[in-house]
Amino acid sequence: MRICKKINEVREEIRKIKKENKMIGFVPTMGYLHKGHISLIRKAKIECDYTVVSIFVNPTQFGPNEDFERYPRDIERDIKILKNEKVDLLFNPDTQEMYKEDFKTWVYVDEYSDILEGKFRPGHFKGVCTVVLKLFNIIQPDKAYFGLKDAQQLIIVKKMVDDLNVPVEIVECETVREKDGLAVSSRNIYLSKEEREKSICLYKALKKMEDLIKNKKIYESKILIEEGKKIIEKEKNVELQYLEIVKISNLKRIEKVEKDVIILGAIKIGNVRLIDNIVISML
Ligand code: PAF
Repeated sequence: MRICKKINEVREEIRKIKKENKMIGFVPTMGYLHKGHISLIRKAKIECDYTVVSIFVNPTQFGPNEDFERYPRDIERDIKILKNEKVDLLFNPDTQEMYKEDFKTWVYVDEYSDILEGKFRPGHFKGVCTVVLKLFNIIQPDKAYFGLKDAQQLIIVKKMVDDLNVPVEIVECETVREKDGLAVSSRNIYLSKEEREKSICLYKALKKMEDLIKNKKIYESKILIEEGKKIIEKEKNVELQYLEIVKISNLKRIEKVEKDVIILGAIKIGNVRLIDNIVISML
């Protein structure tokens, strides 16, 4: 596996690969790789000829009081995993390589970025879109793989790619879950044993809402959200940040559930924020 820390080195390698007409698959990550990332990498390996993974903990998507400094990092372990998965190239730049001192240009998807996660993490999606577009410009992938676990991120990146005519296909991949249903996330390691037990309440709430829609034919968002909230509020020391039902195409809230909606939620347990969602494609 080739490891590049510099943009110029990546560009040189990509030029060679493009000359060979190989299809490039790209998995952007912030490292501390887990089962979720591995499933994206495996999908890229199946669908493409050359797989690039980036590991970059992007400072611009963290707010001043967020966990940038303590975000888990273990590059040696990650490199072992990537070699094992037979990834072709790892791009692992440092912050100065990605953001020069006089960096001034930002990408912002209007309306989609200040709701749901964006309300609790102001500026987060501006940082995400900016770094993702930079990575696309550096790596020039044919396909890029994103997990549905970060559904709002996925929908916003798709919108950015569409609006700005970025020549890449965004491939969405199912959320990988632990046995009890908890969505796999790098942040799960912060949870104490007791918090880990409580953490499942968000998934339980989402499943309850899905059940009410599919089996009890209850479609009023207000009723569904109340039922979901009840499950989360039963857990002590769990703060519900939001639980909303929106259209998957534009993230707009809806009063009555219809086809292609997504239920998104976020909770905070101690210092750990967890997000999850469930897609309702059929009624
Ligand atoms: O999902 C992530 O890990 C990050 O938001 C991403 C897409 C790598 C951008 O920094």
